[in-house]
Amino acid sequence: MSSKKTILCIGAGYVGGPTMAMIAKKCPDYKVIVADINPQRIAEWNSDDLPIYEPGLDEVVKGARGKNLFFTTDVNSAIKEAYIIFVSVNTPTKMFGHGRGKASNLQYWEKTARNILTYADDDKIVVEKSTLPVRAADAMAKILNSNTRGLKFDVLSNPEFLAEGTAVADLENPDRVLIGGMETPSGKAAVQSLVDIYANWIPRERILTTNVWSAELSKLVANALLAQRISSINSISAFCEKTSANITEVSRAVRADSRIGSKFLNASVGFGGSCFKKDILNLVYLCEYHNLPEVAEYWEQVVKMNEYQEKRFVMRVLENMFNTVADKKIAIFGFAFKADTGDTRESPAIYISQLLHEEKAKLAIYDPKAMKEAKKDLADLDQSLIEYCKCPYEAAKDAHAVLILTEWKEFKDYDYAKILASMTKPAFIFDGRNILDHEALYKIGFNVFPIGKVALTHLK
Ligand code: UDX
Ligand code: UDX
Repeated sequence: MSSKKTILCIGAGYVGGPTMAMIAKKCPDYKVIVADINPQRIAEWNSDDLPIYEPGLDEVVKGARGKNLFFTTDVNSAIKEAYIIFVSVNTPTKMFGHGRGKASNLQYWEKTARNILTYADDDKIVVEKSTLPVRAADAMAKILNSNTRGLKFDVLSNPEFLAEGTAVADLENPDRVLIGGMETPSGKAAVQSLVDIYANWIPRERILTTNVWSAELSKLVANALLAQRISSINSISAFCEKTSANITEVSRAVRADSRIGSKFLNASVGFGGSCFKKDILNLVYLCEYHNLPEVAEYWEQVVKMNEYQEKRFVMRVLENMFNTVADKKIAIFGFAFKADTGDTRESPAIYISQLLHEEKAKLAIYDPKAMKEAKKDLADLDQSLIEYCKCPYEAAKDAHAVLILTEWKEFKDYDYAKILASMTKPAFIFDGRNILDHEALYKIGFNVFPIGKVALTHLK
């Protein structure tokens, strides 16, 4: 028999782990189990060295672990025990067959549904936490309710909006929690059960309830709109580099308009992360599927603009370093897809490193948290051309250029005079995040190439 006060999450990833830890912290009267098929991941969640780096997460996990928060590989027993089951397994872009390169690969998610069906011996609420195509909950409900044992499953969609690097703060104080459910009496009761959990710490007016399809679609749309803002400002950064306009000034001027708002308008080397590209391509696929080619093409352009921005950055490096980087050491500061995370999924640094490697550059990489991941991401490249460095000064020594690819705060505090003194001259900095003091770097002797601004160069 399951307990109404036991929650299970299948999938102990970047989303499942932190989300469940927060629920455990805020709802001490619930037992929260996080289960994953990967034994190493579970062992890490049970250790002092958690599998993901996220500011503030250690305290939350350590405060609840062993009390009302448990990590296990025994998915099947946990299915029996829990009344509410969150599914947060990965749903990557499908790389085979129909919809290849765009649609979501739902095989893990469907396997999980069938597993729930096999091991459940009473009614349950199943909550989609993974981002899934619109109407996926319907398919899950059909699989689950196809049982001949009289078991009833209510399927809810509860997409997660946390961003990496700020996951704990986002979970503690979200702009909104979204819960989609069926408009049947048992669907409404299931929604209420989930509302009751979140209401332990989130004001009721921030808990939005919708139908299932709206909740699923909202997640895709939120990510598509955020990414679209970055691609829009990045497209203008290309324009600024051709003229004497300055992207920081343009961005400041437009963000002062309260209708536009201030966030997600920082020009960059491109967006990364496990969600933006995957979710937009999923949206594109769904639009094509529903015969809306114009809509599909509109959103696909957001991804294409991002790829253009990454490529453009490498072209700028190449053109300004006298059209060759072969055999030149290039220091890469930052490999994570954003600051305050060790995650490198879809990081622009991967693609940029690959392009520079094709040009036969010698890469010296330093990131405060993502070195292990960087090594995995670049494992297929000729390792004799890559150095993984313990500190930025080691990476910059004898380098011709420093490339800033992640917006880590500590990059601003380095001793750039010392870095310059150790580099080959002329020395270049390509600031792919516009976080450094460009004037100051120029004054001490660097040739500085920001994003979307005129370069400051001593070369005539
Ligand atoms: C996940 C989804 O990938 C994404 O679609 C959604 O937007 C948020 O949740 P994330 O937590 O970042 O993202 O994924 P990941 O870190 O890859 O974790 C998924 C976990 O599920 C892995 O630890 C994997 O071992 C586990 N898993 C996968 C299972 O336990 N069972 C399976 O059958 C498949
Ligand atoms: C995103 C969404 O923000 C979150 O709501 C969703 O749940 C998951 O996807 P995440 O990918 O973790 O979160 O990080 P986010 O802060 O959105 O950054 C994504 C990428 O955009 C990063 O590479 C970041 O550096 C880049 N970015 C962000 C910019 O280039 N410019 C900006 O102005 C903002």
